[in-house]
Amino acid sequence: MNVLVVGGGAREHVICDAVTQSKNVQLYSVMKNLNPGIEKMAVDYLLEKETNINRVVEYAKKKNIDLALIGPEAPLELGLVNALQKQGIKACAPTKEAARIETDKEWMRNLLKKYNVSGQLKYRSFTNVTKARRFIEELNANIALKPIGLTGGKGVRVAGDHFNGVDEAISYVKEVINNKIGGAAKILIEEKAIGEEFTLQAFSDGSTLITLPAVQDHKRLLPGDRGANTGGMGSYSCSNGLLPFLSQSDYDEGVDILQQILRALKEEGCKYIGPIYGQFMLTSKGVKIIEINARFGDPENMNVLPLLETDFVELCTAMLNESLGNKKIRFKEKSTVCKYVVPEGYGVKSMVGEKIYVDEKSVIDVGAKLFYASVDKKNNDIFTSSSRSLAVVGIADELENAEKICEKALTYVKGDHIFIRHDIGTKDLIEKRINHMNELRES
Ligand code: AMP
Ligand code: GLY
Repeated sequence: MNVLVVGGGAREHVICDAVTQSKNVQLYSVMKNLNPGIEKMAVDYLLEKETNINRVVEYAKKKNIDLALIGPEAPLELGLVNALQKQGIKACAPTKEAARIETDKEWMRNLLKKYNVSGQLKYRSFTNVTKARRFIEELNANIALKPIGLTGGKGVRVAGDHFNGVDEAISYVKEVINNKIGGAAKILIEEKAIGEEFTLQAFSDGSTLITLPAVQDHKRLLPGDRGANTGGMGSYSCSNGLLPFLSQSDYDEGVDILQQILRALKEEGCKYIGPIYGQFMLTSKGVKIIEINARFGDPENMNVLPLLETDFVELCTAMLNESLGNKKIRFKEKSTVCKYVVPEGYGVKSMVGEKIYVDEKSVIDVGAKLFYASVDKKNNDIFTSSSRSLAVVGIADELENAEKICEKALTYVKGDHIFIRHDIGTKDLIEKRINHMNELRES
């Protein structure tokens, strides 16, 4: 079977890792940077932007691809799945229409409203600053401001974290509308949800969902959850599939919401096939929807796919054949801690072209895994680009040991200009999360 993985980040590196564990698979890749991990596994690759749909389809045809897997959201928005389907190539990922659940935040909120899905937040979208001001005042500026389209996770501003009060909110509203951030002169204003965030990823065949262990990501750049929002600096998961602040019934509430969204998408005529991602806030009033992504999470995918014991390619085939209901899925009952190594200045102005030294063997010897992201391999050296460089994942029975393994492994990654959020997965930070949730529940 010829399998094509589109994308050259750590999320795609771990997908490639899962794919190559299947028997009788030949791996192909399209990536814009030369990811050294993917390079090693693929029988052939094309260095090309994932958004160059024509080139990707042409390559897939030339290589007789039987199954395409797509990591990032941008090619989904451009209709890569639709274009592959036209050529008779199967892709285990949503069509352009179904991917709107991620690529158009206003459409997503309207869909939730239309189908009365649980976990909604108050919201409205605006093209007019004066009207936006009235709504902001009505919500006492306890809001999140979101460009409508894709911004790589970096366009959202949250009250108390990134701005305070009506005037500061309005200044970002103007910035988004005037500069068409996210592609439109429009902004979505949402009620701010207060609580602890968690991610639920799942496989979907359009009707049946199989959910994966819950994960908590860390969006903020700096230790203690300060600084700019990023694509995600690291994440952890626990051996029981829950999180230290998340009970089974909270988890089930998230699953139920995803299930309702699947049904809504099906009724809208855009059946959702492929991996789906729910970002939720656990609040004192239950689980609220922050965003839905039409793909695996990055970094969250690095927490779950390494634990998968069921054949991943078979699962993808079952999603496509709409036979997920017949599948049993098995995971290693382990805890994981993933920390990203990013270039110094990431989130503001990354130091690009800086050398990173990786002792892969020592990383593996301490029981960790390493997934390359936006690095470029030139000759035999590895250099930073503007985005996240590589992810290291510690895996162990206990979360505490997974964190220690991750840190030990990170000592084998060196560079003069790299940055890591070392507090991710530490006992102190986890306790802070548990206490935060307890305080909210008691108040
Ligand atoms: P998004 O790109 O939608 O994931 O937003 C980035 C981050 O902003 C999320 O991971 C949350 O931490 C935060 N955020 C987004 N929307 C809200 C909201 N309505 N209330 C509170 N925080 C939010
Ligand atoms: N970790 C956030 C995302 O994948 O969008």
